[in-house]
Amino acid sequence: MKKLLSYIVPFAFVALAASCHYTDTTKPGHEYMPDMYRSPSYETYSSNPNFPDSITARHPVKGTIARGSAVYSDLDRLPYAYENTPEGYEKAGIELKNPIPLTTENLAEGKRLYFNFCQACHGETGMGDGPVVQRNGPVPPAYSSEALKNLPEGKMFHSIQYGKNMMGSHAAQLTVSQRWKIIQYVQTLQIDATASVAPANETNAAPKQ
Ligand code: HEC
Repeated sequence: MKKLLSYIVPFAFVALAASCHYTDTTKPGHEYMPDMYRSPSYETYSSNPNFPDSITARHPVKGTIARGSAVYSDLDRLPYAYENTPEGYEKAGIELKNPIPLTTENLAEGKRLYFNFCQACHGETGMGDGPVVQRNGPVPPAYSSEALKNLPEGKMFHSIQYGKNMMGSHAAQLTVSQRWKIIQYVQTLQIDATASVAPANETNAAPKQ
């Protein structure tokens, strides 16, 4: 044991001295395990010859859904099935149905979200006269207008998902169930432009289509 130490101690001393003897502070001295400092993997923001766009930080695979957050429900785990095309819009209008039950709580939540995200343009009663419109923003038609009063819920969802003309997509701001709750509230405005004045309850909701 003693003999072993008599080899190791001088070696350690020499190694230590050798690694420190550089006076040039711009040089690292001897690196015994350079991979620990200079990882052979690509850094997040370094350029990358393996991809045509040379970007190392890749986007998640299309349809990837963040997990572990309480606001997301199972509905958010399914990719949206309809293309952003006129055909996709028509198909969504026929096939897509609201999976969220119509309850007082859901409608009240839909109303709260509507006031946060939609009212600025669509107005408190959905007449298309929100504060943004009054400052020369895009003018949406009233929900109770000829154009929108019979708009199926699937088309509404599609337009919230992708946006429509001057209305941007709200897919990033609202989970799927939040969007459906807003649609329940918008349906009350489709049939009765004064409905938002009354407290949200099941009697002033539009019948399910
Ligand atoms: C920046 C203003 C703006 C905001 C915010 C906005 N919209 Fe719109 N919305 C519009 C305009 C403008 C149109 C008319 C689009 C067209 O048909 O050209 C429209 C159209 C619609 C339509 C009819 C879509 C169709 O398929 O014809 C629905 C339903 C709708 N909006 C719901 C919502 C909901 C719900 C929200 C909130 C999540 C919202 N909008 C937020 C401006 C807005």
